Amino acid sequence: MEYAKLGSSDVEVSRVMFGAWAVGGWLWGGTDDEGSVAAIRKGIDLGMTTIDTAPVYGFGHSERIVGQAIAGRRDEVIIATKCGLRWDREGGDHFFDSTDLEGRPVSTYRNLRADSILEEIDRSLERLGVDYVDLYQCHWPDPTTPLSETMEGLNKVLEEGKARAVGVSNFTEEMIEEAGRYGPVASDQPLYNMLDRDAERDVLPFCAERDVAVIVYSPLHQGLLTGKVTMERTFPESDQRSDKVWFHPQNRKRVLDFLEKVTPIAEGHGKTLAQVAINWCLCQHGLTAAIVGARRPEQVEENAGGAGWRLSEGELAQIRGWLDDLAGPTK
Ligand SMILES: NC(=O)c1ccc[n+]([C@@H]2O[C@H](COP(=O)([O-])OP(=O)(O)OC[C@H]3O[C@@H](n4cnc5c(N)ncnc54)[C@H](OP(=O)(O)O)[C@@H]3O)[C@@H](O)[C@H]2O)c1
Repeated sequence: MEYAKLGSSDVEVSRVMFGAWAVGGWLWGGTDDEGSVAAIRKGIDLGMTTIDTAPVYGFGHSERIVGQAIAGRRDEVIIATKCGLRWDREGGDHFFDSTDLEGRPVSTYRNLRADSILEEIDRSLERLGVDYVDLYQCHWPDPTTPLSETMEGLNKVLEEGKARAVGVSNFTEEMIEEAGRYGPVASDQPLYNMLDRDAERDVLPFCAERDVAVIVYSPLHQGLLTGKVTMERTFPESDQRSDKVWFHPQNRKRVLDFLEKVTPIAEGHGKTLAQVAINWCLCQHGLTAAIVGARRPEQVEENAGGAGWRLSEGELAQIRGWLDDLAGPTK
């Protein structure tokens, strides 16, 4: 495994991080807790020391599962969680409606008010079973709260020793810049993978210039870039992938054709397509780490092999050319 410092903080993360959204089950068609705990522990054994979770992932479930997996191993792990997406308190900006794992309706709100953040951190620490987290991130921007107030809350979390560093997610460059005026921002967490490359036009160069780490989410485009989502695979309605445009048959076919071109490059390195997709991210300028979701130890074992080697400049350029030809998905 490779490791990197998180911006100007003293937190060091594994360049392949464990993403714990799917282990929460919500929007992923349910989950298997035993497999999840085993997957997280396998990651730690392989040096994938950093785990990214959030309260809203399974409405507390993901944080509890992470807590269970790391019990007795606190000194081996770096924990990143988030604030600002509430389902347990109304107020702020109504984000979206969904159902919980039992099929009950749930509304989520974007709320980055200082008092809400101070309430959330204590609940997260309790669920995780720890005294502090290493990275505390704003999950989504909240248009109803000034960033000065949000950072006031986050600075208090730092002062109280409940987090070692503060980060943001899904923020624009302007928002990152403004937040940085009120307190230290160690990292940003945008969407980025071979099929979603917007971040390389804005937040990646912006953050590289300002020593803000970039830890990207969905580097496998939620499994599609592993090549294992064949034309036959179907997803239940409770799995958000059932409605994702690149997963639609006509687009999935185009991605599978693209991956067929990448296969000889993977084979040349003795790697899998998933490992190439992760390594592609790690090779991009200004990109600190990739957060890869998984629910089974075998997946984690494969994903850990996304680091520790490099695609050549020629291979990166060739893949980029194929991606340019692939262009966007059709509706
Ligand atoms: N800040 C945000 O707004 C935000 C948004 C999204 C995600 N995130 C974070 O980023 C993490 C990763 O993103 P993500 O989970 O959306 O997408 P991802 O990492 O691209 O894909 C994860 C999914 O791909 C499949 N997969 C993983 N490894 C595999 C392997 N080796 N072989 C075959 N399939 C494999 C698994 O799905 P199945 O096995 O179920 O098919 C897994 O749940 C999340 O867990 C979360 O921590 C943050």
